[in-house]
Amino acid sequence: MSSTKTTISSNAASLLPSQRLLGKVALVTGGASGIGEAIVRLFHKHGAKVCIVDVQDKLGQQVCQSLGGEPNTAYLHCDVSIEDDIRRAVDFTVDKFTTLDIMVNNAGVIEQLTPDICDFDLSMFDKTVRINAKGVFIGMKHAARIMIPLNKGTIISTCSMVSAIAGVSPHAYAASKHAVLGLTKNVAAELGKHGIRVNCVSPYALMTPMSQNSLPEEVRNDEMFIAGSNDFIRKVANLQGVDFTVDDVANAVLFLASDEAKYVSGVNLMIDGGFSSVNHSFSSNL
Ligand SMILES: NC(=O)c1ccc[n+]([C@@H]2O[C@H](COP(=O)([O-])OP(=O)(O)OC[C@H]3O[C@@H](n4cnc5c(N)ncnc54)[C@H](O)[C@@H]3O)[C@@H](O)[C@H]2O)c1
Repeated sequence: MSSTKTTISSNAASLLPSQRLLGKVALVTGGASGIGEAIVRLFHKHGAKVCIVDVQDKLGQQVCQSLGGEPNTAYLHCDVSIEDDIRRAVDFTVDKFTTLDIMVNNAGVIEQLTPDICDFDLSMFDKTVRINAKGVFIGMKHAARIMIPLNKGTIISTCSMVSAIAGVSPHAYAASKHAVLGLTKNVAAELGKHGIRVNCVSPYALMTPMSQNSLPEEVRNDEMFIAGSNDFIRKVANLQGVDFTVDDVANAVLFLASDEAKYVSGVNLMIDGGFSSVNHSFSSNL
């Protein structure tokens, strides 16, 4: 019985092309670090031409150069919350690589956890929502401008498990990620008639520079920067004995970007090891 299973899965694996994005052109926002960098590297490995955009120019240039730079990768400064920046980034990608097949709206920020809503600084709320929600909308808008006349394309945004479960993030971050999910579904509804797929991915917690920012300064440390290395995050995870890394998120994005997902649209793909679907507090107190 088990050998039959092995045969089926290895046959399926052998049907996958080794370069699943060959000939495709992608733009990845927030591609200089963390999850975005992992997506850029995986897309490049799978044959895509990739335009990396970010506000951290030095890091972005380094990622670009480490992949050989032009003609297969390019970097451009772009603040996703500024429409002119996104417009320029999309046009730059099309000028450089002739088209845009895959838009990844990944750039994001988080505000520091505030235990009391009465102390919440509203300028932080504005910043988080401006980058995480408005930035994703602008990215969708300008990707659609290129993709609609071509009647094809795929838009993927990095959402979060906080779109499905409450009480595990600061308020503005939760609000912004619910907005990403709403936009994903609404834009999928509008662009379906043009053959354009729109999805998002919702990862569990990973220790990246962004997620460190949500922690009070006194509990931050360098070890946490190694993705998945945080003991607390591992301890409260649903799926035990499996390390969660940025590459797990990149693999899910690769699937949604590839033709293997050609009939997948309007989906929020949870990459949380079941965290948002379970509640152990009942059984652990029996
Ligand atoms: N780390 C986690 O636990 C986690 C979990 C779920 C979802 N996410 C989401 O993943 C995405 C990537 O975050 P990460 O964890 O890799 O963090 P990260 O800090 O490693 O990467 C975020 C990148 O976005 C860039 N960025 C920030 N503001 C920008 C702006 N205005 N314009 C352009 N680029 C900007 C940063 O410079 C950085 O390179 C975010 O959308 C985040 O909300 C992260």
